[in-house]
Amino acid sequence: MSVLNKIARTLVSNRRGILAADESIGTMSTRLEKVGVEATAENRRLYRELIVTTPQLAESISGIILADETFHQKLSNGRTFPEYLHDIGILAGIKVDTGAKALAGAPGEKITEGLDGLRERVEEYARLGATFAKWRAVITIGDSLPSKRAVHANAHALARYAGLCQEGGLVPIVEPEVLMDGSHSLAKCQEVTTSVIRTVFDQLELMQVQLDGIVLKPNMVVAGSESAEQPSVEDVANATVEALRASVPPSVPGIAFLSGGQRPEVATENLAAMQNIDSLPWELTYSFGRALVGPALETWRGETGNATAAQEALSERAVANASAR
Ligand code: 13P
Repeated sequence: MSVLNKIARTLVSNRRGILAADESIGTMSTRLEKVGVEATAENRRLYRELIVTTPQLAESISGIILADETFHQKLSNGRTFPEYLHDIGILAGIKVDTGAKALAGAPGEKITEGLDGLRERVEEYARLGATFAKWRAVITIGDSLPSKRAVHANAHALARYAGLCQEGGLVPIVEPEVLMDGSHSLAKCQEVTTSVIRTVFDQLELMQVQLDGIVLKPNMVVAGSESAEQPSVEDVANATVEALRASVPPSVPGIAFLSGGQRPEVATENLAAMQNIDSLPWELTYSFGRALVGPALETWRGETGNATAAQEALSERAVANASAR
């Protein structure tokens, strides 16, 4: 078993999943302000400290994805975040893309940037304790979207990122997110998700990425958030698994879903329903952001007195997702 395969399997096995706490400074600041907390570096640090020091977190969380800012910050006990995660038996990950920007010639579509200097950044993060990384591509469904060029450009970037990570010893989380925004049907989401993931694997193979040393992080197949026809949990589970069967090679050890704006309980129910489907070649787990930490942030609101209740809110979601597996 290669080192990359071992890390990838650790991330997705034993009923554990990944916590995405890698919101950019901009996104994290907006989320803090929404609950009445001033958006300072210290408050972002405090909030992330609350998350990672939640009791028994390692029982349900295998890895935590950090943002660059957090990666270089310290907990109150003087340990850096990656050092502390290592102490408690959780793998430290790092988001290495620099965000989705408008794609030239493709109105309404985005390309994720961050390849420049990535080899050197990967080396530095690995030296500081990272064992895996994340890069998120976003794909929009619309009247004539996604365009072929947006899908290809993003798949190409994901594959080059994945190659650089593996060269530097990090397991790449490959995240092509088909957004929930819109009024499209479940069938449309299934069709687009299947075709996007196929394109991503074409590119990964072209770049000779070792498929047993990655984790795929896709969206679940759902209807658009503005669609009047919302599918049942079973329909979502079946459509998602069908899309994955038609696009993901069996050598991939695990698939860890993003939550994408689904209500936390719904994301958990959908994940649980997929576990009932027989003969899947990969582990199916979670790599949720909002569906894990949303209730905790709402509870905390920057008040020291709410910290324990906030940690309990995170624990509840983490344990529910582990049980769903
Ligand atoms: P959500 O689960 O909130 O969609 O976030 C997951 C993630 O890592 C997005 O890149």
